[in-house]
Amino acid sequence: MPEETLRITDNRTGKAYELPISQGTVRAIDLRQIKTDSSDFGLMTYDPAFLNTASCQSSITFIDGDRGILRYRGYSIDELAEKCNFLEVAYLLLFGELPAPGELKEWEHNITHHTMIHENLKKFMEGFRFDAHPMGMFVSSVAALSTFYPEARDIKSQANRRMQVMRLIGKVPTIAAYAYRHSLGLPYVYPDNSLTYAANFMNMLWKMTEAKYDANPVLARALEILFILHADHEQNCSTNTMRCVGSAHSDPYLSVAAAASALAGPLHGGANEEVLRMLDEIGDAKNIPSFIDKVKRGECKLMGFGHRVYKNYDPRAKIIKQTAEAVFKVTGFNPKLETAIALEQVALKDEYFVARKLYPNVDFYSGIIYQAMGFTPDIFTVLFAIPRTVGWLAQWNELVEDPEQKIARPRQIYTGHALRKCEEANTAAHTQAAKG
Ligand code: SDX
Repeated sequence: MPEETLRITDNRTGKAYELPISQGTVRAIDLRQIKTDSSDFGLMTYDPAFLNTASCQSSITFIDGDRGILRYRGYSIDELAEKCNFLEVAYLLLFGELPAPGELKEWEHNITHHTMIHENLKKFMEGFRFDAHPMGMFVSSVAALSTFYPEARDIKSQANRRMQVMRLIGKVPTIAAYAYRHSLGLPYVYPDNSLTYAANFMNMLWKMTEAKYDANPVLARALEILFILHADHEQNCSTNTMRCVGSAHSDPYLSVAAAASALAGPLHGGANEEVLRMLDEIGDAKNIPSFIDKVKRGECKLMGFGHRVYKNYDPRAKIIKQTAEAVFKVTGFNPKLETAIALEQVALKDEYFVARKLYPNVDFYSGIIYQAMGFTPDIFTVLFAIPRTVGWLAQWNELVEDPEQKIARPRQIYTGHALRKCEEANTAAHTQAAKG
């Protein structure tokens, strides 16, 4: 068996180096020994946007982008979406195993009894403008939660982390629902502890004057499946943000708020909202060829298409497309699905997309279902943030417990000025200005 090493010859000095290869990687720090002389800092890697850099070791989620595979703790996403409820999958992501029946019952009880938010946080949320974007309300309100639980700063305590994790998983649907109700000018609906996680979310979103909200079971199950599909996705932009902020030992509320801020970006979780805008812009399917031409001219992107890791069909997009049929049986057909399917068929045959291995990602179809369920596009990314809070927290726990991890602090290639002096004239002008 050939040795797991990399031999490097530095042609600047003629020196050779043997670097160990482990798990398909070489440690960047092992390059530091490669110097031209004793004053040389040593070699670094340069990898803008981390295209080819592993930042951690993780056992939570596995993705094979070429084969379109996604697994949580070794279980395939399609099996979890078919056989589990969302809190079961949340438990799996956080603790590494599916819960036994007794564990699940206790877990569901604990999450359910952390769905209320402090009345002062409710008042805080009432301060937003009527047309405040729900994602801005979500990020700010989750960050504000840190002021209610100062003990959350003790991130080294496993028991304390577990308490904050349960609070966050319990409260993010409440915050999300209230942000949505606020944007519609509707009163806040208190959680109903007799309902499941998804049904209670629907209750807080859509209960009107009826005494008790009756969640449609098909829509509740569809939400559960969408939550499961969005729960984690290894080292995506927002998870990287969670780990970066968490590495400074910020509390989990501030770290989740930072991660949600990254998710809000249109290239990331904000894409589901942009897909609906794109489909509205296209309108009739007859406009698809001219839109595709615009994309190929580089004037816009085909939102909901492409992925840094998947160079094949995103397995989540397939499941979401199948879930749409069940939802439409209850809500009525969303004609935008026809446009989306036609758009996908044109793109998947077009050399521009084929050559770049651009396929539908998780955001391409999710918004169509959300819209059919009655959500407005500006809440779509909040619907992504609710389940992804579980993934962020699972990754954060792993970071805190990883002895190899420390505060994230990348290096740079400096391209600015060398040392220079303030000119006499500059100094005189500033001195004069300071005298007034
Ligand atoms: C999510 O990382 C994750 O796991 C994210 C996520 C998760 O669960 O956390 O899966 C969720 O964020 C899904 C992605 C949602 N975003 C979108 O749908 C926005 C549209 N997609 C693109 O912006 C893009 O595909 C990204 C951001 C998703 C990926 O970007 P990359 O990996 O940096 O790829 P790139 O921009 O370098 O693109 C490579 C080429 C470029 O063309 P050339 O310069 O080679 O000519 O493909 C082109 C790009 O212009 N391209 C697209 C395109 N995506 C890439 N062209 C048109 N439409 C697109 N959507």
